[in-house]
Amino acid sequence: MTCLILIGMMGAGKTTVGRELARRRKMRFADCDHEIVARTGVNIPTIFEIEGEAGFRRREAQALDELTAEPDLVLATGGGVVLDPANRALLAARGVVIYLDVPPQILWERTRHDRNRPLLRVENPRQRIEELHRQRDPLYREVADIIVEGGRCNPGAMVRQIEKALQALD
Ligand code: S3P
Repeated sequence: MTCLILIGMMGAGKTTVGRELARRRKMRFADCDHEIVARTGVNIPTIFEIEGEAGFRRREAQALDELTAEPDLVLATGGGVVLDPANRALLAARGVVIYLDVPPQILWERTRHDRNRPLLRVENPRQRIEELHRQRDPLYREVADIIVEGGRCNPGAMVRQIEKALQALD
C-alpha cells in the first residue's frame, strides 16, 4: 500500500491521528519533525535558531523525500510542508494525502501553551495562527485527496472518518 500522508496546521492532531491510523491498519508510523530531531540531535527551536527557517525547510524537504519513498507508511508532516511547490508535487505523487481541517480557534486552544513551535513564539500567536491558516488552507486543499473535518471531534472519530474515505477511494 502506498503512503498515507497527513497534512494540516500545527495542533491539527497529525501525530496523534497518524499513530492511531497506523496501529489500526498495521502500518509503520513516522513523523517528519521527529525524524529531523533524531537526525540533528537537537530540537526544532534550536534548528530555527541556528539555521533559520530556511535551514529547517531544507531539512524538512530532504526528510519528506526520503520518508515518502517507503511503502506502507503513515506519515505525519510539519504544518509548513506545503509551502514549497516541490514538496507539494512530491506529496501528490507519493501517497494518499489527508488534510486534517481544524478551525484556527481550536488550533489556538491546543497550541497556546506549547513552547516547541518557533513560528508561534510571537507577541500575538493567536493572530499568527489565523494568518498562517489563511495562507496555507488553500495549499492543503490543493494537494489533499481526502479532507477530514477536525473541529471538535476526537482523534478516534477522525481516524474513523479517514478509514471511511479510504474505503471509498478503493
Ligand atoms: C511548522 C510546524 C511544526 C514544525 C515547525 C514548523 C509550521 O510541525 O514543523 O515548527 O510551519 O507550521 P507541527 O505541524 O507538527 O506542529
